Amino acid sequence: MPKPPEVIYPSDVVIERMLVLGIAPESFSESYMTEPRPRASKAIATLKSARPTILPSLLLCDFANLEREVRLLEDAGVECLHLDVMDGHFVPNMSYGMPIVESLRKITKLVLDVHLMISDPVQYAPQFANVGADCITFHLEALPEPQALLAKLRGMDVAAGVAINPSSDFAALLPHVPFCDLVLVMSVQAGFGGQSFNSVAVDRLRQLRTQFGPDLLLEVDGGVNESTIGQCTAQGADLLVVGSALFRQANYVDAMARLNAAIVPTNC
Ligand code: DX5
Ligand code: ZN
Repeated sequence: MPKPPEVIYPSDVVIERMLVLGIAPESFSESYMTEPRPRASKAIATLKSARPTILPSLLLCDFANLEREVRLLEDAGVECLHLDVMDGHFVPNMSYGMPIVESLRKITKLVLDVHLMISDPVQYAPQFANVGADCITFHLEALPEPQALLAKLRGMDVAAGVAINPSSDFAALLPHVPFCDLVLVMSVQAGFGGQSFNSVAVDRLRQLRTQFGPDLLLEVDGGVNESTIGQCTAQGADLLVVGSALFRQANYVDAMARLNAAIVPTNC
């Protein structure tokens, strides 16, 4: 006989974060897994033990030699790859989709962090979970009520999070943070690599870290380079997405060493 569905309650961490926001845990209605999440837990543990850590954004890599690029990044000490998915609709640019994530999954054990800049994350995010993503973030601007999809992705054993653009209302994000494994604070408007860092992200990182404590993984993306990385880590960023400051350099080992040397320990 099939087992009846378990009654599932939010984890202690979720309850703790809800209390921070003054939300009564009884009002919580989404289902959350209590079973072990082996893939998500492993990815989260890897990222936490490595933090602060640099995540190369593959947007500018040499796609004709993708496997060689991955090996060079592994040799440079990278723990996690950041994969920017753009649909030409949510953002005015297109990149790649499931086949690239699936191909990467076959050739590397690195954590795969998929950043969905797409209009319909409800339809496509689960497909990225199925092809081997470890972490998936989607934009609050695309899905202003993100909790059902966060729960679904967590139920599919991926680490799930919400991304927010610099121009968007930060207050609208806060009620959803308790349900995120990670939050992606954009320091450029999503869509293109090579833009300048917007320091509104620094204030947001500090506020999230102060309000929600050390358990939450905080990611920052856009314009992160040797000059801007220190202010991000000082204010609590764990995951530093870097595109042009890495891929426009001839030697990834040297570029990673310079970026790592510019990291400042957190002061919050
Ligand atoms: C922007 C992407 C970023 C970007 C980072 O929409 O999400 O990941 O490629 O590139 P840089 O570091 O050049 O800003
Ligand atoms: Zn990104």
